[in-house]
Amino acid sequence: MVTRRRLLGTGLAAAGVGLTGASFTPLLAVDPAKASPPAATPELFTKPMPNMPVLRPTFRTATADHYDVTMRPVRKEILPGVQTDLLTYNGNFPGATIKARSGRTVVVRQRNELNVATSVHLHGASVTQANDGDPMDTLAPGGERLYTYPNKQPHASLWYHDHAHHVESENVYRGLHGSYLLTDGIEDNLPLPKGQYDVEIGIRDAHFDSAGQLVYLMNDPQRTTLLVNGVPYPYFQVAARKYRLRFVNTATQRFLDLRLTDGSDIVQIGSDGGLLPRPHTTKSIPLTPGERIDAVIDFSRYAVGDQVVLENTVIVNGTPEQIGMVMRFDVVRTAEDTSSIPSVLRTLPPLPQPTNERAIEMRMDEGAGAQGKGYMDGKPYDPARVDSTIRFGASEIWSVTNTNTKMPHNFHMHLVQFRVLERGGKPPAPGESGLKDTVKVAAGETVKLQATFDSYRGTYLYHCHMLDHSAMGMMATMKIS
Ligand code: C2O
Ligand code: CU
Ligand code: CU
Repeated sequence: MVTRRRLLGTGLAAAGVGLTGASFTPLLAVDPAKASPPAATPELFTKPMPNMPVLRPTFRTATADHYDVTMRPVRKEILPGVQTDLLTYNGNFPGATIKARSGRTVVVRQRNELNVATSVHLHGASVTQANDGDPMDTLAPGGERLYTYPNKQPHASLWYHDHAHHVESENVYRGLHGSYLLTDGIEDNLPLPKGQYDVEIGIRDAHFDSAGQLVYLMNDPQRTTLLVNGVPYPYFQVAARKYRLRFVNTATQRFLDLRLTDGSDIVQIGSDGGLLPRPHTTKSIPLTPGERIDAVIDFSRYAVGDQVVLENTVIVNGTPEQIGMVMRFDVVRTAEDTSSIPSVLRTLPPLPQPTNERAIEMRMDEGAGAQGKGYMDGKPYDPARVDSTIRFGASEIWSVTNTNTKMPHNFHMHLVQFRVLERGGKPPAPGESGLKDTVKVAAGETVKLQATFDSYRGTYLYHCHMLDHSAMGMMATMKIS
């Protein structure tokens, strides 16, 4: 049998990838003398993209699923022929996916067999303060504890990751992150692609030294190898039909903007906090660290034998050859497809009347490399300080301004899913019209958002989710009481 091999949209690497989004400017450089030389970029598209393993509950009760996770170091082959030291949940890199259901509690017993203190945060979740993975509420090496997630919120593609004070960025970088997919009846009732056609795609970057070990340097511009579900530049064999792809950017500072090299359509159906009100047909999937976008790609437009590359158009801290290509979809078979994308996906509750407004300023020392500090409202993070006091039940408008002239940031709030009201004085793009917990704030830009604090009282964080930046101090505490 002769298989056609047609690579769609060729000439990318040779021609260089066009920069989209003029707001992206180079991230600040670390002192290059201090950085180890990166390993050569691995060959593209030689290994399959693994599907993420799903964590199995240890036991279930009528109302809760109980899991056991051990944080431990492992060595694993990521680059061909070398073993890389990693920090993992249960030995998986990235961590296995937890599948949860709205209304059913999840309890995770976390055991720390690493030699560093950790704190597990469920990003995007509404949980009590004691279960939020506060930076100071750490689990010492040798210890264990339970984290309880009530899942009293609608479906969403969430993720969990380390949040221990000052080391969260390095811990996440070395492997302490995984997905947490929360589903509900709204999702069940839609004819979207399901089962093997609902696939997670977690993208991050890494700096490997010439011995194949991960190098962590704060604010490092040399993380020039892209990993997808833990594998460098994989291929993924698909059927010529629709797939739901759940993209998450798990890098600690790299911005991504994904597109198919042949420029064909992608239908965005969801963002951080679950499905959008309506599908949004686009060419590009912009993802800052921590953000999630669910999208449907219809591979039935291709013939069996076709290959199409997923590329990244934000060429910063790396060359197009290193970071311009992410993975390749190989269309290898046909398959039945009864799925479809309804024109209405969900109804979001109307925004309540705001009860308060506040302004937040984000900034970091530009040009200071790893020595620089980050600030919220002019102050670096102090875990002993409360920066914003919020009345329980309030619905607040936050105007978040990035006062840097070059450095882009993003803004993440714990506990709530917010709505973006304005970006640069204009209504948000359709892809940002749903529930969000992390939002890009370009240099010089102001993003207005509205959040309602009616779930739990306590102290919670807000911060830049470029975790290098939050570790440098760009993080603050809100107290809801
Ligand atoms: Cu992914 Cu403090 O968060
Ligand atoms: Cu979070
Ligand atoms: Cu930042």
